[in-house]
Amino acid sequence: MGKLFRIATLITLLLTGGSLQAALDAGAPTVLITGSNRGIGLEFVRQFAERGWNVIATARKPDQAEDLQALAAQHDTIVIEQLDVTDHPQMEALAERYADQPIDILLSNAALTPRYKSAFKRVDGVDFDTARQSFEINALGALKLAQVFMPHVAASEQKKIIVLTSKGGSFEMSPKLPMMYSYRASKAALNMFMYTLSFETAKKEITVTMLSPGMVNTTPGFNNPQGISPEESVSKMLTVVDGLTLENNGQFLNYESGEVVPW
Ligand SMILES: NC(=O)c1ccc[n+]([C@@H]2O[C@H](COP(=O)([O-])OP(=O)(O)OC[C@H]3O[C@@H](n4cnc5c(N)ncnc54)[C@H](OP(=O)(O)O)[C@@H]3O)[C@@H](O)[C@H]2O)c1
Repeated sequence: MGKLFRIATLITLLLTGGSLQAALDAGAPTVLITGSNRGIGLEFVRQFAERGWNVIATARKPDQAEDLQALAAQHDTIVIEQLDVTDHPQMEALAERYADQPIDILLSNAALTPRYKSAFKRVDGVDFDTARQSFEINALGALKLAQVFMPHVAASEQKKIIVLTSKGGSFEMSPKLPMMYSYRASKAALNMFMYTLSFETAKKEITVTMLSPGMVNTTPGFNNPQGISPEESVSKMLTVVDGLTLENNGQFLNYESGEVVPW
């Protein structure tokens, strides 16, 4: 299935001059999702596609994104695009290719997430390359995405920028333990970037909202009994997203029923 789909995708890419934009339905709303090849991102693709949305599903390595390819084979309105959120020229080129495409929801999901093995390392175990990468992907990547796709969102009906953050980035809600240094700091930086951005988006009637997805089981082979499934997290987040208004601009909300998460 994966190989056949890759060949079909390649042929379509050649026929459309490198873009699959032709597959988008002009009458349907559009979402762009980063890191959509696995975990919560993949589940967002599934649920938006089932709602009949156009989904621009981006992934760092589309040729290896077999689950995403399989999903796209079932839904005409899923378009797979390559995007590494640390590659700013690549992101600018993608935004340029979609210059005429309104994007109702810009969904910043991609992140460098902590592995369970390394999550509890103390300060002498902090890896500074991982720390820099966490800032590049989790904070700067999301800010760059908002920068280049803001005109597309402004041109849409729904005008929402949704950013997946974490309670790990909240001073009040994160565990009172010395753990996940790089991840927590990168998500706190992300929150401040988006909070700052909200003063600009307000003028364009765009709602930028940060969401905590809860504790979600996305690590293959590891099932946290206290965690929830991607299906549950995403369906609850979509209910929250559906109900967002400009009142929620600049807020950090929980997946469960949209309650405000303290900074
Ligand atoms: N799962 C949880 O319990 C939980 C809790 C709080 C917050 N969150 C947040 O929810 C979001 C999704 O979490 P998840 O559990 O689904 O994460 P995940 O399973 O670790 O998946 C991360 C996704 O981000 C992509 N990614 C990583 N670096 C990238 C880059 N440079 N450019 C583009 N894509 C990149 C990965 O692609 P590759 O496959 O190519 O690596 C993958 O698709 C993240 O923002 C995370 O911080 C999750």
